[in-house]
Amino acid sequence: MPKSIVGVPREIKEQEQRVSLVPSGAYLLVQEGHRVLVETGAGMGSGISDEEYIEAGAEIAENSAEVFEQAQIVAKVKEPLPPEYPLIRPGQTIFTYFHFAASRSLTEAMLDSGAACVAYETIENGVGQLPLLTPMSEVAGRMSVLVGSQYLGCQNGGRGILVSGVPGVEPGKVVVLGGGVVGTNAARIAAGLGAQVRIFDIDLDRLRYLDEVMPANVTTLFSNPFSIRKAIRRADLVIGAVLVAGDRAPVLVPRSYLAEMAPGSVIVDVAVDQGGCVESSRPTTHDEPTYTVDGIVHYCVANMPGAVSRTSTFALTNATQPYLLELAQNGLHGFVRRSLGHQQGLNLCGGKVFHRGVSKAFSLPLSPIDDLTEVGRKVR
Ligand SMILES: NC(=O)c1ccc[n+]([C@@H]2O[C@H](COP(=O)([O-])OP(=O)(O)OC[C@H]3O[C@@H](n4cnc5c(N)ncnc54)[C@H](O)[C@@H]3O)[C@@H](O)[C@H]2O)c1
Repeated sequence: MPKSIVGVPREIKEQEQRVSLVPSGAYLLVQEGHRVLVETGAGMGSGISDEEYIEAGAEIAENSAEVFEQAQIVAKVKEPLPPEYPLIRPGQTIFTYFHFAASRSLTEAMLDSGAACVAYETIENGVGQLPLLTPMSEVAGRMSVLVGSQYLGCQNGGRGILVSGVPGVEPGKVVVLGGGVVGTNAARIAAGLGAQVRIFDIDLDRLRYLDEVMPANVTTLFSNPFSIRKAIRRADLVIGAVLVAGDRAPVLVPRSYLAEMAPGSVIVDVAVDQGGCVESSRPTTHDEPTYTVDGIVHYCVANMPGAVSRTSTFALTNATQPYLLELAQNGLHGFVRRSLGHQQGLNLCGGKVFHRGVSKAFSLPLSPIDDLTEVGRKVR
């Protein structure tokens, strides 16, 4: 197989500081004989200089146009934005988070481009998990307790609680709704700080697992409205971490519960990107992360990992790098043949839709994977 040219443009989405490839990844690709072209300054937001990429064997491009023009595979973090649309062409593979179902205009632009779009968020592993979403949930879960603890301080509108407590004073009470990746990471950090933690899930096997691995200050509870209401009343900090795949998050905390909580308690609704599991949640940004409803501080930032860009970049690329290498080594056709999970990553190619979710979201015809041979012939 001829070698590939992998391009890494600088992210242009507002507040996006991550980058899709780190120097160790560039080194691996170059060792395998591929060319890596990084836009100047692409790593700056994550504390990675052009020189570090050069040292790893990558080349530096002056601008994104040069990257898109030369690269057969373009690795990004966020979905392409309108200034990037005209740079994307047939025969090229774009590998990034797309979240197509959330944007008809992006879907139409990428269909028009004719490029192959392989989405991080739809690649599956052998057991139906989404391995390229997991690292960001790990980051957000761990961060949720740290930011929540900060907002419990009086200066931030909180009720003046030190989550860990001190000798002779009880620790904070943390309620975690959902015991998946976000919830488990949140509970672990809260427990490590010494809080009294209650974690809810509807999956009994998950609760059994959590009961085994969590320390004694974490209590696992089956999720139902009665138990949640009781726990929320006593909570200082509530973390929203539920997910029903492909659906809006279920509302587990109706607004009426807020009046029963102590004023200055804090809710961090990590699930806000799926609509939130707290009725009074609405998405916020890092510029203005909180607002208060009925005396309860709400933190609902939809892209929490963006605040810790360096950690997030390395966490993300640890997960994406093996797939990027496979794309470079085997081309798109070899990639989708590796497994059904890899195939799930292919959303669009040559103006056709190959992913059921995108097809369903916009009532577009779903092409069978065999069509790829025809439309994707020119794709590396
Ligand atoms: N805000 C951010 O920056 C950010 C970052 C990463 C992830 N997220 C979001 O966080 C949410 C959780 O992600 P995850 O990776 O932990 O998902 P996950 O699938 O690993 O975990 C979700 C858990 O919720 C549980 N659940 C479903 N319904 C429930 C209910 N009624 N009561 C209690 N538990 C219930 C499931 O059994 C599962 O264990 C998702 O919406 C995800 O998109 C947000």
